[in-house]
Amino acid sequence: MRVLSGVRPTSLLHIGNYFGAISQWLQMQEKHDCFFFIADLHAITEPTSYGPILADNTLDVAASYIAAGLNPKKCLLYVQSDIPEHTELAWIFSTLIPLGELERMTQYKDLQKKYGSSINAGLLTYPALMAADILIYKANAVPVGEDQQQHVELTRTIARKFNSKFGKVFPEPIAIIAKSGARLKSLTDPSKKMSKSDPSQSYIGIFDAPQVIKEKIMRATTDSGSEIKFDEKNKPAISNLLTIYHLFSQMTVSSIEQKFKGKGYASFKTALADLIIEKLQPLQEKQKQLLKNKEKLVSILNAGTKKARLIAQKTLKEVKRKIGLIV
Ligand code: ADP
Ligand code: TRP
Repeated sequence: MRVLSGVRPTSLLHIGNYFGAISQWLQMQEKHDCFFFIADLHAITEPTSYGPILADNTLDVAASYIAAGLNPKKCLLYVQSDIPEHTELAWIFSTLIPLGELERMTQYKDLQKKYGSSINAGLLTYPALMAADILIYKANAVPVGEDQQQHVELTRTIARKFNSKFGKVFPEPIAIIAKSGARLKSLTDPSKKMSKSDPSQSYIGIFDAPQVIKEKIMRATTDSGSEIKFDEKNKPAISNLLTIYHLFSQMTVSSIEQKFKGKGYASFKTALADLIIEKLQPLQEKQKQLLKNKEKLVSILNAGTKKARLIAQKTLKEVKRKIGLIV
């Protein structure tokens, strides 16, 4: 099976990216043919993500991948913009997708509310590039958080449409969604997903300093009442914090409820902050070491690009021949 996924280097990663996406990748690299990349061309759809910060974030994300446990000997790691065949295939796909389908994407509709008519066209055609990222390697499985499921569904539709119009080239990939942690919520507004695009108070960055983690958790929104109980409908904020505790401790939610019975929000939050700080510490240490040798990181990415690009070029040729473009 071929597995592929990526994260946008819009800023440093948060624990939602880690549990929703990357932690799934770690197990997959042991058994499958894996491609993990850094989606820098998708990052520039966010107006605050470009400029010198983008190159820094790209290398930081690469270091995070490796610090989290991705092994360049077991999977290909590369940067999206280093492989121009992605964007060429995206253009071809954009001619196959009805505009209405792009306008119906939840992510686009949410961002349209945020930006109004000044929304950039890249946010609309975003899924065409994502489909190209996946299909150019003929990947079968795409481990992502819940918010990206719809884009993977659209990728399947594009693959089907291409195959029936021009002859079979692509598989129909499936999204692989984590059982727990596929949609961590914002710490300041549990009706929204935790996102790098929101103010940093709303998420725990995997490289946040201990003091920062403590402050964010202690200030996180709570629900009325004082009981530590998992109830997503009536206690969305505490349920989110319980999910985070579960993910970091591997304890079941009911045993966590039991542990904090009668203890109140403040003591639960203090214990949660301590747990997160302790569990993130080794990853943070490893990342710091990796960033001391940026040349080595770049050479890992270049080696990944070299191998991935050969496959991308081959698929693009096949696509062009099927369509009738001169190859
Ligand atoms: P963000 O929305 O924070 O900018 P990305 O769009 O780069 O993050 O997402 C990278 C990966 O992390 C995707 O697989 C996405 O589904 C996953 N992801 C993002 N936010 C969350 C979240 N709050 N909970 C779980 N997974 C998430
Ligand atoms: N759109 C994804 C996100 O926002 C990032 C991404 C780009 C991606 N291309 C991809 C994820 C291909 C999986 C496969 O999280």
